[in-house]
Amino acid sequence: MLRNVTATRYATPLREGGSLPGLMEADDLGTWVVKFRGAGQGVKALLAEVVAGELARALGFAVPELVVIDVDPELGRVEPDQEIQELLRASPGANLGMDYLPGSITYDPLAFAVDASHAARVLWLDALVLNVDRSWRNPNLLLWGDRLWLIDHGAALYPHHDWTRATGALDRALPRWDEHVLLPAAGDLAVTLPAADAALAPAVTEELLRNVLALVPDGWFEADASRYVDWLYTRVSGSRPWVTTMLATDRPTRSNRGTGPPEWLRPQPPRPGHAHITSPTVPDRCGDNRPGDSRG
Ligand SMILES: Nc1ncnc2c1ncn2[C@@H]1O[C@H](COP(=O)(O)OP(=O)(O)O)[C@@H](O)[C@H]1O
Ligand SMILES: [Mg+2]
Repeated sequence: MLRNVTATRYATPLREGGSLPGLMEADDLGTWVVKFRGAGQGVKALLAEVVAGELARALGFAVPELVVIDVDPELGRVEPDQEIQELLRASPGANLGMDYLPGSITYDPLAFAVDASHAARVLWLDALVLNVDRSWRNPNLLLWGDRLWLIDHGAALYPHHDWTRATGALDRALPRWDEHVLLPAAGDLAVTLPAADAALAPAVTEELLRNVLALVPDGWFEADASRYVDWLYTRVSGSRPWVTTMLATDRPTRSNRGTGPPEWLRPQPPRPGHAHITSPTVPDRCGDNRPGDSRG
């Protein structure tokens, strides 16, 4: 299971996002971005945050620490905003906390160069877990301490909203992958994507997936954990048409689909003094790069 903390104060809502996460202080003296079980997509979004986030961490990506945060709805009593009071009332008990990265900024392709191999790895990860929420409109990537941090995986694993159709999604490509925020940074996909696939796919073992699922609180499951392990393992250990789709030469472009980032959003060559994000190495075991010291 994830580490457990208890919320002591509701500080402020984070209004950029759609799910109305809140900043909360906890008994460990930490400040946590809290995703509430009573918000829109319910507890499955919290579960997706843990599975996709911890899988990413195990594969070497930077992900702020995740905890289970116990919330007493009474903490919202003095909140003037009715919507927040209601959200807290609908979210007693175990919610999801993500370590708040103070001073972090949203990834901006104009200001930061990301190494092509790292960009391709993030694209590969999002394709594996069907994370449709990392577009150039909504990057869900934070820059903090010269690293690119992956946040907001609540929309990943969307087939778990209807397991009767999940088998049909096993080969499915990432919807709207041509709008992925790191696609322009990924260089020649014919080179970088197979390299990402070769580095990451063998690392996603059944054992690793079981370890990741074991971090999810029992009360959050509507389907057995083995369903998630089986679905992800089948997807990653097969012939992976969801990868080859992205290598097809008839790749949709802005001119023929009306989508994709505008020209001015395409990454510029790195300039001196600007951060340059490179690729992580894949650790041997799940959890090796858990950033226990990630609080600044
Ligand atoms: N760990 C974090 N540290 C600092 N800021 C964060 C963190 N997590 C989220 N934020 C900020 O809060 C916003 C909303 O959070 P996000 O997880 O993207 O929720 P939503 O599901 O509502 O989009 C982000 O766009 C970012 O600006
Ligand atoms: Mg978001």
